[in-house]
Amino acid sequence: MRVLGINAIFHDPAAALVVDGRVVAAAEEERFSRRKHGKRPVPFSAWELPELSAAWCLASAGIDVDRLDAVAYSFDPGLCRDAAELGLADPWDGLRVDYARRAPQFLAAALPGLDPEKVRFVPHHVAHAASAGLAAPPAGDDTAVLVLDGRGEVASHLAGVYRGGRLSPLRSQELPHSLGLLYEDLTRHLGFLHSSDEYKVMALASYGTPKHLDALRELVRVTDDGGFRVEPIDWAGLAKRVEAGTELGEAHADLAASVQRRLEEVVLDLARWLHDASGGARTLAMAGGVALNCVANARIAAEGPYRDVWVQPAAGDAGTALGAALHVAAELGDRTAPMTGVDLGRGWSDEELEAELRRAALPYTRPESIAAEAAEVLAGNGIVAWYQGRSEYGPRALGHRSLLAHPGDRDTTRRMNDVKGREQFRPIAPMVRAERFPDVFEGVFPSPYMLFVHRVKPQWRDRIPAVTHVDGTARVQTVHAETEPLVAEMLAEFERRTGLPVVVNTSLNTAGRPMVDTPRETMELFGSAPVDLLALGPFAVRRRAFGGDR
Ligand SMILES: [Fe+2]
Repeated sequence: MRVLGINAIFHDPAAALVVDGRVVAAAEEERFSRRKHGKRPVPFSAWELPELSAAWCLASAGIDVDRLDAVAYSFDPGLCRDAAELGLADPWDGLRVDYARRAPQFLAAALPGLDPEKVRFVPHHVAHAASAGLAAPPAGDDTAVLVLDGRGEVASHLAGVYRGGRLSPLRSQELPHSLGLLYEDLTRHLGFLHSSDEYKVMALASYGTPKHLDALRELVRVTDDGGFRVEPIDWAGLAKRVEAGTELGEAHADLAASVQRRLEEVVLDLARWLHDASGGARTLAMAGGVALNCVANARIAAEGPYRDVWVQPAAGDAGTALGAALHVAAELGDRTAPMTGVDLGRGWSDEELEAELRRAALPYTRPESIAAEAAEVLAGNGIVAWYQGRSEYGPRALGHRSLLAHPGDRDTTRRMNDVKGREQFRPIAPMVRAERFPDVFEGVFPSPYMLFVHRVKPQWRDRIPAVTHVDGTARVQTVHAETEPLVAEMLAEFERRTGLPVVVNTSLNTAGRPMVDTPRETMELFGSAPVDLLALGPFAVRRRAFGGDR
């Protein structure tokens, strides 16, 4: 069966293609349109479809629109109720529902040749659940699944269990109670962009003290039946609202710390309830925007009752394109295959990359080993733009569209944040060869998708200060030679030169822009930011200070 998945309703529009139960292509629209998050998260934009990514998914697999068996749309307007009845202050919500109802016709217009009858609505949280429960590595038994989201049609959460590829829902929490919307409200109050910058609030939280935890325990409570309540919160009474141009202070960090801590407590309770209700499932799979909170994830893994915790790397709404497609493929009788990596986006052949370099008239070489070439520059404290293979699906760069640097220099954080124009309180993350992980870090292993925080062993903190956060943690990506041989080779070459098994890895983009996707965007970044080496596939472009003639 050939199923195209579409996420379009709230934010992060994306498309994914599942053929015979296997994800063969998946991409976010922002990588094509170059508009961060694809569109604004407002009801008026609900009609906008991931047209470019959907067309690319089909073209990359050589499948014509009329050969699709189904299109899975990750929202079911038939489940919706009036926003006021749900306690949501959203007078335009009805417009969103209207647009969703007309999605089959919109899709048929965007993808000429598509029969609108082939469009199936998948409940939003079922799509999130499938992106976790069906995409997780096989557990060999039941998989508990926990969706923690901002909102879907009428709920914000889903707890269930997958048995033999079928979801049995156990509990969902109806709106307006929502952990995702709670975090979004805080994000807005702290002057950041909601549905986008929540991870900045998580980073800010590590600088604060949870002074308001008692108050928040009153306002955000779990119920005995696996649900929760979020009462209205007087944010301004806890810390002054941050307006454009005003600075973040201690009170803001304390508020972020308080909400973050309470969130961790609540999701732990929900995970424990689900463990009991599922009859003691050994694996927990998670998705939904809140599942990108790697501090909470680490606590669930460390303190929760599960043997394994797996988080969908595209846990936000983009991942519902993949989940909806997997869900419909399973409904149509396909046996679904777990994800083996996130390199599901666009890629270019060596010949195509070389043609791009020639067109740009950039002086380049083809070294014997691009991994060794990059390691050499990194060892000399240079910054490397690392562009290899297909681009990543989801918000993290994981060694395909990455900006790399030396972890041993305290100044690296400032330099990287300068390249990217980011706030200085934001940490940068390490990648480490899987076999060296236990020497340097403690915590969840494997962690190939950077979705958990880990403790840096005390003896390593001074050796890799650039990636050791203020609280002694790091958000680690473990690199496995079987799935990422080139990145593993680069790490090994770097360790041979420096004795350090860790390299700084952050996304290859500049502030406010999506990650680069094409070779041309990569060369534009290289030309406009202080990057010392561009490793474009097997080709190297160096700046003068590192032996180039530019
Ligand atoms: Fe969602």
